[in-house]
Amino acid sequence: MPDNFPGAATDPETLRSLIADGLERARSRTHTLTACDEEDLVKQHSALMSPLVWDLAHVGNQEELWLVRDVGQMEPVRCDIDHLYDAFQHPRSRRPSLPLLSPEESRKYLAQVRTKALDILARTPLEGAPLVDRGFAFGMIIQHEQQHDETMLATHQLRAGAPVLRAGTLAADVLPTDAPSLPTEVMIPAGRFMMGSSVEPWALDNERPAHAVDVPGYWIDAVPVTSGAYRCFIDDGGYQNSRWWTAQGWNHLREAGLVAPKYWERDGDRWIRTRFGVVEPVPDDEPVQHVCWFEADAYARWAGRRLPTEAEWEKAARYDPRSGCSRRYPWGDEDPAPHHANLGGSALRPAPAGSYPRGASPLGVRQLIGDVWEWVSSDFRPYPGFNAFPYQEYSEVFFGPDYKVLRGGSWAADPAACRGTFRNWDYPVRRQIFAGFRTARDAAPAEVR
Ligand code: AVJ
Ligand code: FE
Repeated sequence: MPDNFPGAATDPETLRSLIADGLERARSRTHTLTACDEEDLVKQHSALMSPLVWDLAHVGNQEELWLVRDVGQMEPVRCDIDHLYDAFQHPRSRRPSLPLLSPEESRKYLAQVRTKALDILARTPLEGAPLVDRGFAFGMIIQHEQQHDETMLATHQLRAGAPVLRAGTLAADVLPTDAPSLPTEVMIPAGRFMMGSSVEPWALDNERPAHAVDVPGYWIDAVPVTSGAYRCFIDDGGYQNSRWWTAQGWNHLREAGLVAPKYWERDGDRWIRTRFGVVEPVPDDEPVQHVCWFEADAYARWAGRRLPTEAEWEKAARYDPRSGCSRRYPWGDEDPAPHHANLGGSALRPAPAGSYPRGASPLGVRQLIGDVWEWVSSDFRPYPGFNAFPYQEYSEVFFGPDYKVLRGGSWAADPAACRGTFRNWDYPVRRQIFAGFRTARDAAPAEVR
């Protein structure tokens, strides 16, 4: 196992400082995303989302439940509010009517919990019991806060009115200077590869255990489908022709009145979009986002292709044909750095298709990590040998045909909550998430070496 896994630092003090940094980075992002007017924080911007102040106190409450009460075995900071922040007790649409903590009370609560969590980090041995081994519970809480930060960005994108978030810029060395010479698709040879992980210290239960999967040869897009390519589907009458859609997808299109990706609007003969309060032309070269699974599936059929299966996506992202081993990321085993992938949320947008040459897989597939979550064809199911850990409500209750899998992380995902094995899931109708896709096709038998 490479020595750069987050929990592989044998020196417990190095691991502790990695964890403390991860907690701090998540918290600073949470505060940036909630640095708006009180009214903005308590308001429900969309029935699809919680008020921002709910996410704010919920991340503190999860930290209290897992780090303070469970790992630390300490008295509750506040035992009166657990039910308010239990996602299973109240659907998002009803959260604004709960007696939630105010923004001020929430911030104070988060700070109290964090002080205790850091004391517990300093005195807990990070080995032994699975909950603490290699800092798992701390890693889980870091990922949890980062996931809610991404959810809060989706709420900001839904919010009407003047912009409140300021975008960062992408470094010049990640931009696609060689895009015209990129192949459109890459062949992944047939054969077994190891899917999932049993060793990644902070892998969540649904990523475990590692297991061999035999994958027939296939071709996969070298880059995600762009808005320009998607516009051709619209212009070709894609939303008017039921032949491209599954029966369920066509029903949904008619009921929801789908005509284009969410946030797109016609402006004469061009498309414009609203992105975090700014209205701008839709850039042709950017990976399309804010499409639901049904739209991704229909586009692929129109293009004479299909969505990749989850195993195909992961093999493209992790399989190293030279060693036969699975990597942590397309570029290797190093943690994501800014030259590998567009992650972390500051760009407020995906990078142009073909960006990040240094983040490519060994076979040359780009932008598998970052930019947009990628819908795959598969339902969210447990891997063989799955064990719910540390609680059934993280993954197990969502397994089944209702949810589709998304892979690879978006520009809004943090490196801590994104890796080659990471699995996200959502209803196939969802469009407010930062999701796009790429397409695939079977390889002809003669093409498979
Ligand atoms: C893995 C993104 C689907 O946001 O519902 C947050 C993550 N679980 N709090 C979600 C999660 C509990 C989850 N997703
Ligand atoms: Fe949560």
